[in-house]
Amino acid sequence: MNTYSSEEINQIKQADLQYFLHPTSSIAILEKKGPKIIVRGKGCKVYDIEGKEYIDGTSGLWFNSIGHGRSEIAQVAKEQIETLETYHGFNEFSNIPAINLAAKVAEMVPIKNSKVFFTSSGSEANDTIFKLVRFYWFAKEMDSKDYIITRNLAYHGVTCGAVQATRLPKFHEGFDPLLPAFDMIDAPYCYLCPWKKEYPGCNLECAYSLEEKILELRPENVGAFIAEPVMGTGGVIVPPPGYYQIIRDICDKYNVLFIADEVINAFGRTGGCLFGIEHWQGVTPDIMTIAKGITSGYVPLGAAVISDEIFQVIRSKEKFFHGFTYSAHALACRVGLKNIEIIERENLKDNSKRMGERLIAGLSALNLAPIGEVRGKGLMVGIDLVSSRSIREKYQTSLAVRVVEIAYEYGLISRPLNGDIVQLSPALIISEAEVDKIVEILGEAINKAYREKELIG
Ligand SMILES: Cc1ncc(COP(=O)(O)O)c(C=O)c1O
Repeated sequence: MNTYSSEEINQIKQADLQYFLHPTSSIAILEKKGPKIIVRGKGCKVYDIEGKEYIDGTSGLWFNSIGHGRSEIAQVAKEQIETLETYHGFNEFSNIPAINLAAKVAEMVPIKNSKVFFTSSGSEANDTIFKLVRFYWFAKEMDSKDYIITRNLAYHGVTCGAVQATRLPKFHEGFDPLLPAFDMIDAPYCYLCPWKKEYPGCNLECAYSLEEKILELRPENVGAFIAEPVMGTGGVIVPPPGYYQIIRDICDKYNVLFIADEVINAFGRTGGCLFGIEHWQGVTPDIMTIAKGITSGYVPLGAAVISDEIFQVIRSKEKFFHGFTYSAHALACRVGLKNIEIIERENLKDNSKRMGERLIAGLSALNLAPIGEVRGKGLMVGIDLVSSRSIREKYQTSLAVRVVEIAYEYGLISRPLNGDIVQLSPALIISEAEVDKIVEILGEAINKAYREKELIG
């Protein structure tokens, strides 16, 4: 176990500020507060460079399902590196872990006879399918079907294509012009319904607005609709029952492909089911993108999974000119296989359901003034904070940022999301005692942040 002297810690922190451009960060805040350097992890806990222990309440960025520091993973990674770090998949080349993982994923997903294209991230997987959707319609000689419809508050990644489907304003500011022919509809955010309706008394306007949008753009111009079955970064938004059945019918009616972005949802995170979309019975997407939980973050890996129908159309063209050097990385695929074996062996999708319910019940029972709603599915949980519960009004400046800051001091990593929401998404192996500790810490943190806010006025 590493221990660092205060001199070493200072040097490392200085080097971080001097050399490391952090992803998706406020440089000003980083420079003011300094980096939080995590050096070690075990199970649901991580340890910083000063040796302080934290419950990893977010599993990094929603990615770790099996917990940190699993030696089974280290062992297969070592074996694979010693055998063959990787070999590429271009043209006729292939490698055994990629074949095995493709077969395993194809067997697990709800899309029958699917084909799996590997990437190294969720953004790459989404960029891949945006190109692939356009190539599909081109191959079908319907190449006006360029538009991809996304949803407000969606997060689909940050590469030039994926970020167009992401609809959180800060991710667009200053980056235009990006990829053309994207449009969006409102999110099925029941707590602050954009149509000011209340489920089940509404007509699921959120789902039917897809039909309106397709008609506005004209069906001959619309190629696909993309949705995270349970939205993550946009605020842990769970669409109402019936939502995706309507979406699927509308897509079928207008010959539009339905893409489920399961980058966070997949492999049991939403509890009880392996994939988020399975919570809406009978709905099968044409394409799924996956990442994060496929390796629990031990090595980077993503994938786009496509239906046989799409594959047969692409097959009719001479060559599919799209691939990354590390599409089908052997080490990543081998780790993915072992990770999925652990998820299945330990039945983590069911633990995710049980622990998610316990977490939501515990947080709801706190019944604190600024908690407007606690919601989620499995271990994707969000606490929607408000200044007034009766009229569901938001604070002018985020309370969640302060809550997360205080919780960190108390030994819990959580994350503020857009819209003043606190994200909780611990590893799927979490125990009851750890869930209860998260509830206890957050109760104290929310109380403290709220008292401070009320004092300031
Ligand atoms: C739903 C969803 N799609 C895509 C992405 C992008 O994945 P990556 O950061 O691996 O590029 C993310 C990342 O958080 C995500 O949550």
